[in-house]
Amino acid sequence: MAAIAAVAARRRRSWLSLVLAYLGVCLGITLAVDRSNFKTCEESSFCKRQRSIRPGLSPYRALLDTLQLGPDALTVHLTHEVTKVLLVLELQGLQKNMTRIRIDELEPRRPRYRVPDVLVADPATARLSISGRDDNSVELTVAEGPYKIILTAKPFRLDLLEDRSLLLSVNARGLMAFEHQRAPRVPFSDKVSLTLGSMWDKIKNLFSRQEPKDAAEGNGAEPEARPGDGDKAKETQEKAEKDEPGAWEETFKTHSDSKPYGPTSVGLDFSLPGMEHVYGIPEHADSLRLKVTEGGEPYRLYNLDVFQYELNNPMALYGSVPVLLAHSFHRDLGIFWLNAAETWVDISSNTAGKTLFGKMLDYLQGSGETPQTDIRWMSESGIVDVFLMLGPSVLDVFRQHASLTGTQALPPLFSLGYHQSRWNYRDEADVLEVDQGFDDHNMPCDVIWLDIEHADGKRYFTWDPTRFPQPLNMLEHLASKRRKLVAIVDPHIKVDSGYRVHEELRNHGLYVKTRDGSDYEGWCWPGSASYPDFTNPQMRAWWANMFNFHNYEGSAPNLFVWNDMNEPSVFNGPEVTMLKDAVHYGGWEHRDIHNIYGLYVHMATADGLIQRSGGIERPFVLSRAFFSGSQRFGAVWTGDNTAEWDHLKISIPMCLSLALVGLSFCGADVGGFFKNPEPELLVRWYQMGAYQPFFRAHAHLDTGRREPWLLASQYQDAIRDALFQRYSLLPFWYTLFYQAHQEGFPVMRPLWVQYPEDMSTFSMEDQFMLGDALLIHPVSDAGAHGVQVYLPGEEEVWYDIQSYQKHHGPQTLYLPVTLSSIPVFQRGGTIVPRWMRVRRSSDCMKEDPITLFVALSAQGTAQGELFLDDGHTFNYQNRHEFLLRRFSFSGNTLVSSSADPKGHLETPVWIERVVIMGAGKPAAVVLQTKGSPESRLSFQHDPETSVLTLRKPGVNVASDWSIHLR
Ligand SMILES: *[C@@H]1O[C@H](CO)[C@@H](O)[C@H](O)[C@H]1NC(C)=O
Repeated sequence: MAAIAAVAARRRRSWLSLVLAYLGVCLGITLAVDRSNFKTCEESSFCKRQRSIRPGLSPYRALLDTLQLGPDALTVHLTHEVTKVLLVLELQGLQKNMTRIRIDELEPRRPRYRVPDVLVADPATARLSISGRDDNSVELTVAEGPYKIILTAKPFRLDLLEDRSLLLSVNARGLMAFEHQRAPRVPFSDKVSLTLGSMWDKIKNLFSRQEPKDAAEGNGAEPEARPGDGDKAKETQEKAEKDEPGAWEETFKTHSDSKPYGPTSVGLDFSLPGMEHVYGIPEHADSLRLKVTEGGEPYRLYNLDVFQYELNNPMALYGSVPVLLAHSFHRDLGIFWLNAAETWVDISSNTAGKTLFGKMLDYLQGSGETPQTDIRWMSESGIVDVFLMLGPSVLDVFRQHASLTGTQALPPLFSLGYHQSRWNYRDEADVLEVDQGFDDHNMPCDVIWLDIEHADGKRYFTWDPTRFPQPLNMLEHLASKRRKLVAIVDPHIKVDSGYRVHEELRNHGLYVKTRDGSDYEGWCWPGSASYPDFTNPQMRAWWANMFNFHNYEGSAPNLFVWNDMNEPSVFNGPEVTMLKDAVHYGGWEHRDIHNIYGLYVHMATADGLIQRSGGIERPFVLSRAFFSGSQRFGAVWTGDNTAEWDHLKISIPMCLSLALVGLSFCGADVGGFFKNPEPELLVRWYQMGAYQPFFRAHAHLDTGRREPWLLASQYQDAIRDALFQRYSLLPFWYTLFYQAHQEGFPVMRPLWVQYPEDMSTFSMEDQFMLGDALLIHPVSDAGAHGVQVYLPGEEEVWYDIQSYQKHHGPQTLYLPVTLSSIPVFQRGGTIVPRWMRVRRSSDCMKEDPITLFVALSAQGTAQGELFLDDGHTFNYQNRHEFLLRRFSFSGNTLVSSSADPKGHLETPVWIERVVIMGAGKPAAVVLQTKGSPESRLSFQHDPETSVLTLRKPGVNVASDWSIHLR
């Protein structure tokens, strides 16, 4: 039995982990990630070389006599004290309080990769002018910006200041390291082994011997090279270049990486005075607040298919977004390191290890250092291209980031409903039974999903002829229920001369190539597979065209797509991915583009779905791999998690970290992908998922069936209730996504985004907010009888959405819970729209009347918005067919007005009820609409809860009206 289970379990594993998994099953050990399959920093030669450099004086210096100030940028050459290789620094002031820094070689042997297609446009620049200058530094002022930049020549550093306070410094710790390209050399077998680190020691000696004072204070008169030093330097340089271990070839396990272009890594450090809390750089199965990495492994960004990932460590996972946010009481900043190569991020802090008490003592005695966090980025290739987003508030940072990489695509309404998936629904009859199961058990569901077994021998764009012989009938049946289907389309293509997709890609030369020019082949689900080169625009166009209904046979308008394995996953490749010396379009190495490959797959698929509808319909595509900008193409999920309580908990910080860097449409597999959840865990996971943006249950092939109705009735009821809560809040979710799409603000937010001055929220990750209105504290412990909920905000009031009980902030509240409880609070001061009749799917509900839940603040005010359109086309954009309504309550009057007069929509949707929390009992309630006489509304007031319910205002949602409590 064990052997059979292990064989069946093979599907998602690399061959090596298979062996271990097999042993694990036989010996009955708990399965976990096999860490030895993945590199540590020490095993990644560039990371090791970069990290061996210690803080100190930088060997780089700016040559101020080369400084040029153009209308859009300042350029200046940088040189390395030893190698003398020239680099060019390009500095730009950007509008909206941003600065861009690029560093490249002045005369590279070969151009270095600059990441395309991530920025939505060339960022608008703000003019820089020189406002001060001395021998060793230049002071720059950014037009209309509140801040200045000081460029220090020797040692090279940049400081950004606002008024007199230092916001951020670049290379202040001297960790900049730029491996210039050099001529290949024959392997050199000298006894002298010189790493970048020991080279730095040499440099330090040079400095301390010859210019002890000048180096620190700067000395513009320093000649560029002294005759004597030059020779010595050259010698040092040559030795350094010959002997760096792993520089010209590197082996990991059985995989060898030929490095035809030698070492090309780049690294730079950023110091953030006053900052102690940093976030972002997903994807890691780790805490929301980033940890100090000194003495341990840095956070790694390298898209990888990690089998049974482990929690609370900085190992790389499926996606990468090289964006970091720093937060303090008075300031927020962001750093966006635009580089698609393997990247490591080190975080250090001068207060690490100090207790809060210790810090308080320091503060009281005035003896503490200013807290400071230092961030060091290290990438294997490409250039230094970094955007400093200077806030000052976190909302400003969100806007700044959105102006660079775009906002979340507006999802079709159905995709905010519930998704039912497993690997795999066996056949068409199985799909239809599951579909019927939802109706039979009075549970809403929008989408059923098919994993890899639906295709004919893992040949994507086809259907298994015996199990899925009539896909169009199946799709039509689902359409009659107003439901959708999602089918998987992965980017590994079966090498099979009878498979049209393979034949065409091979004939058109659209596959990724090996170093010697043949088509790259690896192992994946279909066996031997090749990988389309999605970095090639022609390839993306070809792929997009495959989604036309006549090319993708058996597809229909209610079929949507899921891209898995797009890191890319290669079972027999190094670290389960592609060889770094594989060759892409334009001659770039896989090394250069690795982290953006998955984004391109996502982009091409989303384009395909748009094109098949003639540009009318909005796509829905889920992707496992992602990069900066992936938010523009759809949803992502946290990959192959496990049915364990800790995996349930970690879904919060994992999705929050993504939300902070622009990817709002995130979810975790409900129930856990691996293993069988106990019923209580499954219920708690539905309750969590109902309040996370992407809500999909999914499960491994080996797991038992777990459609909700297979559970005992008390569990079923709790799940039905969670589904109902999700569906009734769909108008709120949809509005939040519209706001995210317009403004770049996250849908799911850490509490500190709303309460930036409340330090107790800075590390909080067991509760979160949706927009600025709902606070969710999901139950994530087995056998819980209660939870400690923190309700923040001086003068804030919070209403329990179930009991309407009112609580004052700030306080920690012990809330008893039962199996069916999901602690959710609505913030006083907000208005949340809902649909109160839950039906089969969102499509059946979208013209239903709206109920407004008005939660009054302590001052008796509230506001909120509602976005409505047809739910699935681009007409909201192209024809302004939408409504954005604003509701605001003050002075005992609720007013509905248009928040965007551009929009117009004919809609039958009307307001059926208004529930006002925190209201006294009025003598009368009067409705006023334009052109009609005043009318009295019937109402009910509950003195115990202070809830006032206004019945049947009956006004169309598009109209202007007001309701007066008298
Ligand atoms: C730029 O910064 C200033 C001062 O810190 C702030 O007042 C202004 O709102 C910011 N502008 C943007 C567009 O973020």
